[in-house]
Amino acid sequence: MTNKATVIEVVAHKGGVTKTTLAAHLAAGLAARGQRVLAIDTDSQGDLAKVMGMQPADDLYAWLVDKAAPESVVQYVPNEVYSTMDEPSNGELYLLRSSVQTWSIPVKERDPFVMSERIAEIAGVFDTIVIDTAPTLSMLDSAVYLAGDKFLLATECEFLSMSGVRDTMAQIQKFGARRMQYNIGKASSVMGILPNKFIARTKNHRANISLLEMDFPGLVWSPITHGTKWSEAQNFARLMWAYAPGGREANEANAFVSRAMAVLNV
Ligand SMILES: Nc1ncnc2c1ncn2[C@@H]1O[C@H](COP(=O)(O)OP(=O)(O)OP(=O)(O)O)[C@@H](O)[C@H]1O
Ligand SMILES: [Mg+2]
Repeated sequence: MTNKATVIEVVAHKGGVTKTTLAAHLAAGLAARGQRVLAIDTDSQGDLAKVMGMQPADDLYAWLVDKAAPESVVQYVPNEVYSTMDEPSNGELYLLRSSVQTWSIPVKERDPFVMSERIAEIAGVFDTIVIDTAPTLSMLDSAVYLAGDKFLLATECEFLSMSGVRDTMAQIQKFGARRMQYNIGKASSVMGILPNKFIARTKNHRANISLLEMDFPGLVWSPITHGTKWSEAQNFARLMWAYAPGGREANEANAFVSRAMAVLNV
């Protein structure tokens, strides 16, 4: 493990394609396997806090605009949210929350490097920082995209969602070039595209995934199956390993975390 956190952003220019679900499980899955992980919510819906059993809060605003000290805005996420006594977490998970107040961050703080700079201050403390992003682009996204080392694209297996993948790829490339131009960090890259809500018997889903694989060879990860347990778990503010340990959903979540670790080489 290097002494600087890798910043992974879960992105998609489309709403409801499971960005928050995947960001939460990626962050918690890496923590369960021994990493010190910080999850940051940059979406004004504040959903990342909700799926981890907390309330949205103005912490992102305080951190980026008021320059609050990290220790005053970062919350510890209890193990029971994402692991069980039988299989306890080997690491630590922390959360930096968002709220409706997030919409006004770019009005108050116009520096597109603010996120990269604030992350640089804490990058030595964490192994990985996982960022959940908003579905629609806002002025905050320049700062968010510039800060990303790796990008994981969330998509459903439907046409419009997959067309969103292509737009999102273009956005990542645009900010990747700017990152190099301003010498912010190492070159950014796409770590994978994760099709979710997959229904294996639906021909259209299978066809759409094949098309995606043709367009982006080697980048499309094994799909996660559609299942109601994913939304049920959120009712109980638990991640899958705590809500339904050992089930298909928990196994598929494990598989995707393993894939991420293989790509990250950790
Ligand atoms: N594999 C799955 N099968 C069925 N439903 C799922 C699956 N994964 C996630 N969901 C559900 O899909 C819904 C949307 O997920 P989520 O909120 O993570 O998407 P999002 O991309 O973050 O949305 P937004 O664009 O609003 O931020 C949630 O109700 C979630 O529980
Ligand atoms: Mg979300």
